Amino acid sequence: MRVIERISDLKAVIRSQKASGKTIGFVPTMGYLHEGHLSLVKASREENDFTIMSIFVNPTQFGPNEDFEKYPRNMEKDTSLAESVGADLIFSPSVSEMYPEGYKTYVDVEKITEVLCGKSRPGHFKGVTTVVTKLFNIVEPDKAYFGQKDAQQVVVISKMVKDLNMNIEIVMCPIVRESDGLAMSSRNTYLSMGERQEAVILSKSLFEAEEKIKNGERDPELLISFLRQKIETVNFAKIDYIEITDMANLNKLEEIHGKILIALAVKFGKTRLIDNVIVEV
Ligand code: PAJ
Repeated sequence: MRVIERISDLKAVIRSQKASGKTIGFVPTMGYLHEGHLSLVKASREENDFTIMSIFVNPTQFGPNEDFEKYPRNMEKDTSLAESVGADLIFSPSVSEMYPEGYKTYVDVEKITEVLCGKSRPGHFKGVTTVVTKLFNIVEPDKAYFGQKDAQQVVVISKMVKDLNMNIEIVMCPIVRESDGLAMSSRNTYLSMGERQEAVILSKSLFEAEEKIKNGERDPELLISFLRQKIETVNFAKIDYIEITDMANLNKLEEIHGKILIALAVKFGKTRLIDNVIVEV
């Protein structure tokens, strides 16, 4: 598996791939890979000639009191996992390669970055859109693959690509879950055994809410208080938000109709977990 750390080296590889007419699929990650990340590589492999995965823990998307320093890292294991699913190349730049001294430029998508996770993590999406723009400019992919796990991230990046006329197709892939339903996340490693057991309440209650909608429930307030009550039954859970929005603009809904997002963020001890379901009625 080829691991490239320099932007100039990667650009040379991309130039030669493009010159031979190859299409490029791109999977941006922060590493500590699990099946969720690997599903994106598999999807990219099916639709592109050459698949690049980036592994970069991006400092600009972490708040001052967040876990940038202690975010889990394991490059050796990541390299073999990426290879096992057929990624062609890993791009793993240093922080100074991406943000050299004197760095000054940021990309900011308005409004839809101020709700849901953006409300509790101010500046987070500005860091995400900035690094993803930089990565897109470096990799110049035909298609880029993102997980529904971070549904707001997909909405924000799709909007950025449209608004800035980037010639890249954004593909959203389904959430990969543990056998008990917990959405896979690099941060699950922070959970104590008790927290890990209780965290299953998130997916369980989201699936029940989805079922209620399928059975005719149309009142978002009722659904939200149902979710709140269920999640508050477990000891360690501290709710950050539970919201029901439309998928296009992430606006809160008065009534369930169209393509909707039920999204939540809940803290278990120090670990903030997110999960969601998308329902179409
Ligand atoms: P990271 O959290 O490493 O996630 C990388 C990609 O994997 C994202 O598109 C995310 O939605 C997807 N993913 C994570 N868990 C998943 C799961 N259980 N099922 C399916 N997909 C899953 O998201 C980021 O990194 C960063 O913000 C990044 C886009 C790389 C910019 O720094």
